[in-house]
Amino acid sequence: MSKPAWTSALEQQLKDNPKSVTYAFSTLSSENKPKVRYVVHRGVTPSNILLTTTDTRMSKPAHLAHSPTVEIAWWIENTNVQFRITGQAYSLPLTTTAPEFPTIIKGLGLEGKEEGNAEWWEKKRKELWGSVSGHLRAGFGRPTPGKKLEEVEGSDKWPETIPAESDDPEESKTITNALDHFAIIAIKPEAVEYLELKPIPNRRTQWALQGDGSWQETKVAP
Ligand SMILES: Cc1cc2nc3c(=O)[nH]c(=O)nc-3n(C[C@H](O)[C@H](O)[C@H](O)COP(=O)(O)O)c2cc1C
Repeated sequence: MSKPAWTSALEQQLKDNPKSVTYAFSTLSSENKPKVRYVVHRGVTPSNILLTTTDTRMSKPAHLAHSPTVEIAWWIENTNVQFRITGQAYSLPLTTTAPEFPTIIKGLGLEGKEEGNAEWWEKKRKELWGSVSGHLRAGFGRPTPGKKLEEVEGSDKWPETIPAESDDPEESKTITNALDHFAIIAIKPEAVEYLELKPIPNRRTQWALQGDGSWQETKVAP
């Protein structure tokens, strides 16, 4: 199947604006309330699944388990364009042991594809673990995010940075504990809207995923 047209627009924008890697990511809480926060874009898979990462103990994984429907708003300041992407998202922690893995692969539409097996995701998770900063990695070994600070001891002793791997047994234990909390969030786009604010009149293009896997493109009034 040919590449959806929106991927070319996104790829070009990211190529021209390599620093524009954060987007607002909206989920639904268990009380069905919208929750939004910024995350860092960590790549696109061969099947056009968008990737970001999180701590398994944050709210996002629980929200996604409650409802996988998400929306992204991504403003690229320099070129003044916005992508609004609606889709289904799943959190993938240590995939080789996750009983829900087949359901996730089905939800992402990856059955029979390169990214359909657990080893692919575990390799990707380790690759992303190696690519983030040591400072960010250290955060995954700290006390549960969102816990009251007064209930947490020794914040002055938290490690500032940790390596991706180590031969030292003590450091290795610290890394394993942190890596256990490191999860990929995989987002399968189902509708994409591309708003271009530089041209006058502005342009707004929408793509919607069809039942047969093709994408229908509609240009709308901005
Ligand atoms: C620029 C920026 C980038 C961020 N990137 C991430 C990220 O990639 N993953 C993440 O879990 N949190 C990221 N955060 C923190 C989140 O916005 C949020 O505060 C945190 O994940 C807790 O959210 P939650 O409890 O709703 O899951 C980022 C924050 C900012 C301001």
